[in-house]
Amino acid sequence: MSLQSVSRNPFFVDKPVPPEHFVGRTSEIAAAFDQIYNRSHLAIWGGPGMGKTSFLEKLADSQTWEENGLDPSQAVIVLLNCENISPFTPSGFWQEVLSLLKDKLDDKPTLQAEIAKLIEEGKTTKDSLRQILRKIGKQNRFLVLLVDDYDVALQENEQYTHDNMEQFLSECRNLAVHFRERQYFSMIVTSLRRLNELGPELNPSKSPWYNHYLFQRLKPFNNTEIAQLLSPLRTPEARDAIREIADGHPSLLQIAGFLLYIELETDKVPDSQAFMDDFESSTIQIFQNIWDRTNQVEQTLLMLIALSNFSGRLHQKEQFDLSGTDLIFSQKERELSKLEEQGVIVHQVNEQRTMYSFTSSIMERWVIQQVWNTDEESLKAREKVFLNLMSHKQAEKLTNAIGWLGQHKDDVIPILKRIPQGIQVLLRLFAV
Ligand SMILES: Nc1ncnc2c1ncn2[C@@H]1O[C@H](COP(=O)(O)OP(=O)(O)O)[C@@H](O)[C@H]1O
Ligand SMILES: [Mg+2]
Repeated sequence: MSLQSVSRNPFFVDKPVPPEHFVGRTSEIAAAFDQIYNRSHLAIWGGPGMGKTSFLEKLADSQTWEENGLDPSQAVIVLLNCENISPFTPSGFWQEVLSLLKDKLDDKPTLQAEIAKLIEEGKTTKDSLRQILRKIGKQNRFLVLLVDDYDVALQENEQYTHDNMEQFLSECRNLAVHFRERQYFSMIVTSLRRLNELGPELNPSKSPWYNHYLFQRLKPFNNTEIAQLLSPLRTPEARDAIREIADGHPSLLQIAGFLLYIELETDKVPDSQAFMDDFESSTIQIFQNIWDRTNQVEQTLLMLIALSNFSGRLHQKEQFDLSGTDLIFSQKERELSKLEEQGVIVHQVNEQRTMYSFTSSIMERWVIQQVWNTDEESLKAREKVFLNLMSHKQAEKLTNAIGWLGQHKDDVIPILKRIPQGIQVLLRLFAV
């Protein structure tokens, strides 16, 4: 194989995918353009690495507009990330919107100068934006505001109190639904969770602050999307090989694709151990991120899933007892479906029994490592959570299982380290 053809790895790790390599999400994109067309609003949500930033960048691309039958020159598209406004404040937010908007108006120097003046005078409020929206409207254009990581605007910080937040959210709502300028304005936000789970408590005398959004969740990729994403590997076996470690999770798929590409497309001898080690070290951050963003109840459920699936791989004699876990799962369907929405787990119904497993077996492994890291003290703290979730007897079983694992590390590690069958088969195929 020539160096030329392997010089560029066609997978995108740790960065949003460029619009021309964007895969799938057709119905979500169509929904976004329906909202844009109607000057309505959309809230996209999905867990870490599910493709929120990529989605917004796809929407900001003028080719996407044309493909969806809209004229991009009629819009001023502004894309901003709330993580960049640090610490988050409303005036910081409006300033960011105004200055990005200004950069987009090179063909309108007078308007540009007007915005520059507003910023200079420190008049960065929603009212300044209204004033500019009116002018944009007069030119038969409208603003599409794409706001990434909106979660940041829904957490208090030292300079952003609960009252500030309520006021900011009501300003956004007024801009979207009440003011006349709403006809020149469409806003699309992304967040890790559905907006109704974030932000301030609702005030019964007011409409919910998020009521004007249409909601769409970014789901894990389906088989067609997975096949499309992996198509640069030119081997149909890749999909099955990767299933166990990445399933439909966009980030994990890109990482797996990136590393497999190196194994398959270079002249080196494919090495499944090296592949797994690289995959593990490249994904640790994602799992850590997911774990940190789950609450104690969710963490307990993840531990239960990891442990009960793991026990299935142990010898009958060498076991811990987690019988009865199904009952806990059946009582916590809501929490489990949230984890599924985050792309962490998937479920399967088998002879009327619902079985949960991890999207990636590496995440399962990682959770077991978290179990190992539970020392006496944190176990004590967790026991309280266990008791809220299950009976005394079940809690005891779980505590015992955690203890068992700690005492049998030597037996457990080789099982955990087993290289998924699919990867072995695929790489062997290319080893000749
Ligand atoms: N539609 C898509 N097609 C191909 N790759 C994608 C797609 N969406 C996301 N990815 C890939 O998945 C990873 C995470 O995407 P990103 O947009 O950063 O997610 P998020 O913002 O939700 O954390 C990146 O490596 C990106 O290239
Ligand atoms: Mg992102």
